[in-house]
This record gives sequence, C-alpha cells and structure tokens, in this order.
Amino acid sequence: MSAITIDGPAGAGKSTVAKALAKELSFFYLDTGAMYRALTLKAMRAGLDLNDEESLVALAKETTFDFKGTAAAPVITLDGKDVGDDIRTPEVTNNTYYIARIPALRAVVVEAQQQIGQMRDIVIEGRDTGTVVFPEADVKFFLDAKLEARSHRRAKDLKEAGRSVDIKNLKNEIQQRDHSDQTRDTGALKKADDAIYIDSTDLTPEQTVEVMLTYIKNY
Ligand code: DC
Repeated sequence: MSAITIDGPAGAGKSTVAKALAKELSFFYLDTGAMYRALTLKAMRAGLDLNDEESLVALAKETTFDFKGTAAAPVITLDGKDVGDDIRTPEVTNNTYYIARIPALRAVVVEAQQQIGQMRDIVIEGRDTGTVVFPEADVKFFLDAKLEARSHRRAKDLKEAGRSVDIKNLKNEIQQRDHSDQTRDTGALKKADDAIYIDSTDLTPEQTVEVMLTYIKNY
C-alpha cells in the first residue's frame, strides 16, 4: 500500500490539494483534522469537561470512525452518524486544541489512522502525518503559505459558507493555532526531514497539485 502525506499549518490549502491529488491518483483521502474535530464535537455534545483528560481518552477509545461517500471524497462518520459541517463551527475549531494536546488520545487516533492506511492507498493530510502516523510514507509534502495568504483563503471559505469574517481576528486566530500546533508535546506541526517543502503563497490549488504530481511521478 502507498501513502502520500501532506502536513502544514491551517489555511495552507492542504484539504483542497489532498482531495484533488487523491482523485487524480484514485487513492483514499484521509483528513486527520476531521477526526480530532469529530471527537471534539462528541465531547462537547456529551457535556464533558475539556480539561478532563482521562474522560476524553476514554471517549476516544470507545469511538468508531468510519467513512461514507467515495474514496477520494469520503465523509467521516462517528459511531455510524454523519457529522457533516457541524465539525467546522468556530466553537469546534477553537475547542479542538483541548483534544489534540492529549498524548494518550492522539495515540488512539493515530492507531485508527494507521489501520485505515494499511488497507488502502491513501493521501493523508494533517500536522503529524509524515512525522508520526506514516514515517515510512512513499512521498511526503510540507505545504506552507504566508500568513497573509492563509488568512485570506480562510476568509474566502468562511464567506462562501455564509459566515461573517473579521480578517484581523482571523489572522490572530490562525497565529494562535500555529503556535499551539507547533508547541504541542506530541504530534506537533513539524516538517519531516525527508518531506518536500512547497510554498503555495503564489500558487493556485491546480498548480500545487501539478507540482506534487511531478514529484510523485519521479519517485
Ligand atoms: O486541519 P484542521 O484545521 O481541520 O485541524 C483541526 C485541528 O486539529 C487543528 O487545530 C490541529 C488538530 N490536528 C492535529 O492536532 N493533528 C492532525 N494530524 C490534524 C489536526
């Protein structure tokens, strides 16, 4: 089985590019951020204290992740239920921090990700997919972009989803997420030594996919 990993900060364009790449290669697309988001939503709905690490780890252990839809555009289901756009609200986005920082919980999620990748060829994206989840991946990318570009991309996505946007706040939030992603004890955002670095600031998603395909074809 082959694995292609794409890690990078929020707003670098990982999801768009990973989906297009998975479609092009007929691989399965795995959005690891969606798994942390889905667990956050489940914990919030269960009314758990987000500082109670023990309960959050127990919750992760008793959760079943599955996917509906097509391989290149799967929809995550949690305990058989479609969580849809509920995992993309600002509350879930901010609270994911509490879930993603717990090493024992990450171990449960990483194992689930590895099992998914053992059964299929995948394009997997997140923060630690090339460093922790699939350190032996065939091709690894680290997708980056300047803060300004990342903030404007996020603003565009939010506007299209009908949400109001304050670009200054958005920039601050992205900087805060960068900081918490980079300073976590486990699974921190970091370029794997053997990952190919791509700066997408001045690239369209199509151009980014082209660059990646060139590397993959030469692998
Ligand atoms: O990629 P995203 O914005 O959907 O990710 C949501 C949050 O999940 C993000 O703040 C960091 C966390 N995350 C993580 O800790 N490890 C991953 N592999 C993917 C995401």
